[in-house]
Amino acid sequence: MTDRYALFGNPAKHSKSPQVHAAYARETGQDMTYEIIEPPLDGFAAAVATFRASGGRGGNVTMPFKLEAFALATDLSERGRIVGAVNTLKFEGNRIYADNFDGVGLVSDIQRNIGLPIRDRRVLVLGAGGAARGALLPILEQRPTRVVVANRTVPKAKALENPFAAFGNLVTGGYPDLGDEAFDLVINATSASMRGELPPVTRAAFAPGCVAYDLVYGKGLTPFLALARDAGARRLADGIGMLVEQAAEGFEWWRGVRPSTRAVIDSMAVPLS
Ligand code: ATR
Repeated sequence: MTDRYALFGNPAKHSKSPQVHAAYARETGQDMTYEIIEPPLDGFAAAVATFRASGGRGGNVTMPFKLEAFALATDLSERGRIVGAVNTLKFEGNRIYADNFDGVGLVSDIQRNIGLPIRDRRVLVLGAGGAARGALLPILEQRPTRVVVANRTVPKAKALENPFAAFGNLVTGGYPDLGDEAFDLVINATSASMRGELPPVTRAAFAPGCVAYDLVYGKGLTPFLALARDAGARRLADGIGMLVEQAAEGFEWWRGVRPSTRAVIDSMAVPLS
């Protein structure tokens, strides 16, 4: 019987996840479908219940439902518990297993695909919302020299210290606190690029030859990436690699088989110029 999976999000119609999972299913010979479900903003739990009742086996969760998915889970991974949000669900009997593969996907893309080992590097994360939370733990686990989180709303950055400072050298604050410090890896985890905006980071943050990574995908050269390029970044990346890598983690968790990611990333990449 064909197994059903879905992406839950609102809006979610623009997502490339169905294409990614279709490619993985083809490559690994899995008999499955992957659809988009766009519940109303107050209808996430009901949509999941309907999907499970009709035989759904699992799903991905995107904005704005990652916190609700966390609350719905009966069995949380350690990582999901620390992050406080999940992006992947697996349904078995009356259990809802949940994990968060966003940060693992990001780290895989940076280290394996881009070729930047995070260990002993200086890392700057812009933003302190769900995207930043998802990224922090797997980054800290790579033992960078230090991770600085800068956010417009400073208390929101400070609130990350309690869950994450135990895992490495984490410093949080506002953009002015950055001073002239330069970083080897600068990650834009704000939602600014969705609206063509630039977070108030300066050129000084980009060390010569650094990697600049924007978590959004499909927007081409965002103002953040343009600033990084002008400041001398060696490599610019958008979030397509992270999307494809986190999908591979989830796919393996669901199906027990590891798909390959390189060709999928190449087929979906848009020029960053
Ligand atoms: P997500 O789950 O995608 O992280 P979010 O929780 O709404 O979404 O968080 C959005 C993040 O982008 C926040 O860190 C936000 O900063 P504030 O907390 O100060 O609002 C940040 N953000 C959005 N637009 C921004 C902009 N133009 N400049 C700087 N930061 C921005």
